[in-house]
Amino acid sequence: MKIRFVRKLQVNDVVAKDILSGEGKTLIKQGIKITRQSIKFLRENLILYIYIEDEALNDIQTDPVLDNLKQKTLAKLPRIFGSIYTGNYTDARQDLESVDELINHIFEKKWVNTNMYEIKTYDNYTYIHCLDTSIMVAFIGLEMKYEKSKLRDLCIAAILHDIGKIKIPNNILNKKSKLTDEEFELIKMHSVYGKEILEKVPFCTESIIQGVYQHHERIDGKGYPTRTYDDEIGEFAKIISICDVFTAVSANRSYRQRFSPNDAYELILAGSGTKFDEGMVQKFRNVFFIYPLGACVKLTNGVEGYVVRQNKFFADRPVVRIIYDVNTQQKVDIYEINLLEHPNIAVESII
Ligand SMILES: [Fe+2]
Repeated sequence: MKIRFVRKLQVNDVVAKDILSGEGKTLIKQGIKITRQSIKFLRENLILYIYIEDEALNDIQTDPVLDNLKQKTLAKLPRIFGSIYTGNYTDARQDLESVDELINHIFEKKWVNTNMYEIKTYDNYTYIHCLDTSIMVAFIGLEMKYEKSKLRDLCIAAILHDIGKIKIPNNILNKKSKLTDEEFELIKMHSVYGKEILEKVPFCTESIIQGVYQHHERIDGKGYPTRTYDDEIGEFAKIISICDVFTAVSANRSYRQRFSPNDAYELILAGSGTKFDEGMVQKFRNVFFIYPLGACVKLTNGVEGYVVRQNKFFADRPVVRIIYDVNTQQKVDIYEINLLEHPNIAVESII
């Protein structure tokens, strides 16, 4: 399978992975052929790219177990948020067991052989956003050599990082036009509300609460709610802040189109040492890759192809299966270039 931007979809392309809405509802099922109506439908749902079948790329596999676990957890998130907010902690704790399954799976896998961008094919919505963030932090936690219980706390902090938004009116949260200063100040209160809500929850540890409270603090002291500097910001918050920004900017927002995955990645690297902790950004680079599996890329030597494998620790140097030569404008006999072995060649762009 490969990634195709919706604007480049063609009639009869075959959907290779279920396309989900922000609430986790299936919009178009795997195996369905694309029609003109479905392209229109995807555009209306602000979907930027999807996975489609391609025989030459049949060996690209994402992780179906992780997909299932994600859907299962996603279905429970509204209830988890509701139970915590209303003080029904026994139910919340029980529902959070699906998070354990997710963590166990990630813990066994050890590194992201899968594609973090696959979770980014739908629009932004609080629950999806929280789940995406949580899965990303889990992989960084693994890279930090966290033991399972600490990893679990980190994931729970990430899942609940925006729970305070429950107290902000929906018309402000979903406002399509620019926020007024007063409205923005109110939205900023969600970190404080989150802390207040979680302080009453028996299974929320100090580090979970701190992670939620500080997830918008920045190491240059320009974050909120308390403009805390580097040393005073907890490790959970430092990890969550990176993943929160990454998932937020690579999703649709009501007020702008989303970034391409590589733009979101660059934004994180650009914030290293000012917004984000340098060491954590390094962990992020170790674990996540700039160009998603199945993405079509143009290389600086004038050939085009698809990302088929990644090289761990080398975020920008994947293995590319070449299918086309821009110079001769001809298809070529398929071959692979491992960019790790060709330092003189780089990815020029995602196409
Ligand atoms: Fe937030």
